[in-house]
Amino acid sequence: MAEYYGKDRAAEIVRNIKETIKFETPHIGFILGSGWGHVAKNLEHAQTVSYQSIGMPPCGVAGHEGNLIFGKLSGVPVVLVQGRYHLYEGRDIAETVLPVCVVKELGASSVVLTNAAGGINAAYEVGDLMFLSDHINLTGRNPLIGVKATDEYPIFIDMSSVYDREMRMALETASSRKGVNAHRGVYMQVLGPSFETPAEIRAFRSMGADAVGMSTVCEAVFARYLRLKVAGISCITNMAAGMTAGQIKHEDVLEESKKREVKFSALLREFVREYVK
Ligand code: HPA
Repeated sequence: MAEYYGKDRAAEIVRNIKETIKFETPHIGFILGSGWGHVAKNLEHAQTVSYQSIGMPPCGVAGHEGNLIFGKLSGVPVVLVQGRYHLYEGRDIAETVLPVCVVKELGASSVVLTNAAGGINAAYEVGDLMFLSDHINLTGRNPLIGVKATDEYPIFIDMSSVYDREMRMALETASSRKGVNAHRGVYMQVLGPSFETPAEIRAFRSMGADAVGMSTVCEAVFARYLRLKVAGISCITNMAAGMTAGQIKHEDVLEESKKREVKFSALLREFVREYVK
């Protein structure tokens, strides 16, 4: 049996889930970021297990529930991971990628990472989506540090095309069908939890970032190590620091994504229909 880093812990969690519910092997795992929780309401035959009941650490951030939800989207078995672990909570990086490990261990072949982000590209507007074409890791961390490479799971992984083209095309088709304004862009992960300064945002723009947030990149790195297909979606909940008057508040970030959650869950249903044909 091929071993990857984190497999033992994820396998134990999956055993605990199997003792609690019966479910079909999910095709896609969705890691739901701030304000993306509504997707769960659209799931057919939904079954929910709480993180605590299956040995996963509880979540600590408002907007992050701490549930795994199994069911179908457009008739396709999926799992929703409702609740992220963030580096800014002081979590170990291994813990922040645990949901990705669990998605892998459940047998899914693809993962969709969703998040809330600040728009850096001046052409973006609050409420737009950005489908990740690439990323910049500004955290100074990497989830593969200290991981022992094996023949099957090397650590010097190629990162020239992290985000799956087919998944992105399915997302783009779905967004035009659903009338959702969407862009293709580069996401930058910072550590947080403080938001950025205007000078940082100017620097990030010159580095090539279109949006900034506090998650996703390290998860995408780990997902590629696990050879999962990866897509990333940012909801632009605010324009980044210095781009508009006023302050950036976490509550506003949640509220902006909440306003559009019904539309976004319709988009994800359409995406699944388009991607798994
Ligand atoms: N910066 C960092 N993270 C974020 C932002 C932001 O402006 N908005 C939502 N998450």
